[in-house]
Amino acid sequence: MATPRATGQEQPPPLSDAEEIARFKRAAARAAGELVQDGMRVGLGTGSTVAYLLHALGERELQGVRYAATSPETERIARELGLAVVRLDELGELDVAIDGADQVDPQGWLIKGGGGAHTREKIVAADARCFVVIVSAEKLVPRLSAPVPLELVPFAVQTTLAKLHPTQLRDVPRSPDGGLIADYLGPIEDPRALADTLSATPGVVEHGLFQPELVSLVLIAGAAGVDRRAGGKPRGAAAS
Ligand code: 5RP
Repeated sequence: MATPRATGQEQPPPLSDAEEIARFKRAAARAAGELVQDGMRVGLGTGSTVAYLLHALGERELQGVRYAATSPETERIARELGLAVVRLDELGELDVAIDGADQVDPQGWLIKGGGGAHTREKIVAADARCFVVIVSAEKLVPRLSAPVPLELVPFAVQTTLAKLHPTQLRDVPRSPDGGLIADYLGPIEDPRALADTLSATPGVVEHGLFQPELVSLVLIAGAAGVDRRAGGKPRGAAAS
């Protein structure tokens, strides 16, 4: 095969899908990082997109910002980067919380909990006046589909699982709060009906369906840049 001739205008090699997704996650995270202002109380989610956010926040010279973390991993990275992490109970209502998601549907429903942190993530999202979701564009789906992450009380877990069929325990460590992580694998015809059923099942600590009313803003990064989609919760000053 002939070696291609140098033209002086070579394009860089195309990015792999994984590299491109990482670039998009970073762009969404950086856009969200700009929403944080001096003195704010900020909730930090969990996952690889949030890791980019932590670095973006670490690079800014923000004054007096205090953070609540949703997982030991987020807390560890945040502290390493010099971010002031305190307990959520010390902060009261958060000005803004920022987190990733596994799926976002056209109505603004989310599936979260790929990292098994959805219980703490939902507590933090619900405590924030403004909840901002940061995703790469491939997380947008026409319709939510399984798995839906669950956190379950360890007591009589087989009894709980039988009520949630088809649900499978995930082979991961317990949550920091002692819960077992599982995945509901059935159909999602109506996210609200499924969310209600899961919430009403004894033994379910929390599920990974996040309703549109929890979400203020979704930042979606793709090839054309970062798109902003309003959610069902007023944004407040943090994301105006
Ligand atoms: C963790 C989560 C994450 O936000 C979700 O899984 C997305 O992760 P990533 O940013 O790594 O794609 O809900 O419980």
